[in-house]
Amino acid sequence: RPENVRPVWTSDEGTMAQGTARTRWGRIVQDMVDSMSSALAKNSFTAQKKSEALEIQHQLRILRQEIVNDDRLTPLNLRRDVDERWYNEHLGVSSQLSWRAAPWLFAECYLYRRVQASFCGSVFWHGHDIFKEQKDTTFINSQTAVQDLAAQYIINIQRGQQKYDSELVRFKEFSDMMQVALWGNATDLSLLSRPTFEDLRSLQKQCSAAMVVDDDLDQVWSYMTSPEYEASHRNIDIVLDNAGFELLTDLVLAVYLLDQGLAKEVKLHAKAFPWFVSDATPTDIESLMTMLRSRDNFPTREFLDPLCDRIAELMSTGKIAITQHWFWTTGSAFSEMPSRARDLLKYLSRRDLVIFKGDLNYRKLTGDGLWLYTTPFKTALGPLGAGSGLKILALRTNKADVCVGLKSEDQVRELDKECPKGGWLRTGKYGVISFSDGE
Ligand code: F6P
Ligand code: MG
Repeated sequence: RPENVRPVWTSDEGTMAQGTARTRWGRIVQDMVDSMSSALAKNSFTAQKKSEALEIQHQLRILRQEIVNDDRLTPLNLRRDVDERWYNEHLGVSSQLSWRAAPWLFAECYLYRRVQASFCGSVFWHGHDIFKEQKDTTFINSQTAVQDLAAQYIINIQRGQQKYDSELVRFKEFSDMMQVALWGNATDLSLLSRPTFEDLRSLQKQCSAAMVVDDDLDQVWSYMTSPEYEASHRNIDIVLDNAGFELLTDLVLAVYLLDQGLAKEVKLHAKAFPWFVSDATPTDIESLMTMLRSRDNFPTREFLDPLCDRIAELMSTGKIAITQHWFWTTGSAFSEMPSRARDLLKYLSRRDLVIFKGDLNYRKLTGDGLWLYTTPFKTALGPLGAGSGLKILALRTNKADVCVGLKSEDQVRELDKECPKGGWLRTGKYGVISFSDGE
C-alpha cells in the first residue's frame, strides 16, 4: 500500500466520515436508548431483569453523551477477549483519539463493540439483539420487493431453465442475479434509520446497471465458466452484510448459483453479534425464513412457497450452510487478516470464490483508504490482492468516502458532474462489482 494512502478520519473536512461522527452516530445510539425504553414499557420484567435493562440503558446514554461531546475514546473493560485487547492497544498508542478525530472505520467499529460490551455483562440481556425489531419490521415492509424477487427467481430462472439456448442468455441471467444481490445492499438501516415503505420501494426500484461505476462482471463470468473453475470444488462463500431484504437477495443468489451448477456449496458468513444496526446474525437468517413462511406477513404465496421450499431443502442438505468468525466483527481492515486471523485466511484460500457484500466489507477490504478513485481494486486489497490467490468479488453500493477501480479521471469528472458533492460515493445509488483474481 503506498505510504500516502491513509484511512479516512472523522476530522477530514467535508467527508462522509465527518458527517457521520457529527450527526449520525448520536442519532443511532439515541435510537438504542429509545428501544430499551420501549422494551421496558411494553413488558413486565422481573426486578433483576428490569434493573439490568436500566443499567444497560444508562451505559448507552453515557456512550451517546461521549459521542455528542466529542470525548476521548476510552479503553474497553477487559474480559478474556483478544479483540478488546486489540482496541485498547490501539487506544493506548493513539490516546488522543476522540469521536470527531479518529479513523472512521476504527471509531465506528469501536462504537458497536461498546454497545456489545454493555449487553454482554448482563445475565438476562446477554445475547439480546437491540436492532432485531427494526430489522424484522423493515423486512416485512419490503412486501413488493420480496414478492418481485421470488417471482423473478421462480418464473425466470427455475421454470425457464430449458430456454438457456445461448451463452448470452446464461450471462444475462447471471448478471441479473448479481445485480439483485448488489442493489439489495442499498437498504441498510444505519443510513436509513426508519425507512418507510415508500423509501424502500423507491430505493429498491431505482437501481440499474448503468450506475455500476466499476463493473468487472465480464471477468467474473470468464472465471466462473473457465475450465479451471469447472474443475474446481466450486465452493463459494458469501460474507454477508444486512439482514432482511438484502439477506433474501443473498439467499436467492446462493440458490441460483447452486441450481445452475456454478457452485456446489455456498457458505454464508454471518456476524457473531449485532453489528452496524442491520447486519445479519445467524438468528436473523432463521427469523427471515420464519417470516417468509408466515401468511400473516406475506399473504401472497404463489412464488414464495416454492422459493422457501428450495432454500430449506438446500439448507437441510448442507449445500447452503451458515458460519461465523470473530474477525468479521473486529475493527480491523481485512489487510490485517494475515496477522490477526490466519485460520480464516487459510480457509478462504481454499475456497473458489469469496463474495463480500456491502459497504462496510468494502471499506474493510480497501482499508477505508483515501485512494485515488482510479486505483485498481487489486492494489487497494493489499495482501489480499495480487499474489494472494484469493478470488474476491465485492458487491457494494457506495455509502462512504472510499471507492476504487474507476477507469479514468474522465469517468470521475463525469460522475462528479452527474451526481455532485460526492453523491455518487455516498447515497447508495451507485455501486461497484469489483473482482480480483488474486494473481
Ligand atoms: O456509510 C454509511 C454507513 O452506514 C457506514 O456507517 C457503513 O459503512 C455502512 O453504511 C453500512 O453499510 P452496509 O450495511 O452496506 O455495510
Ligand atoms: Mg450492514
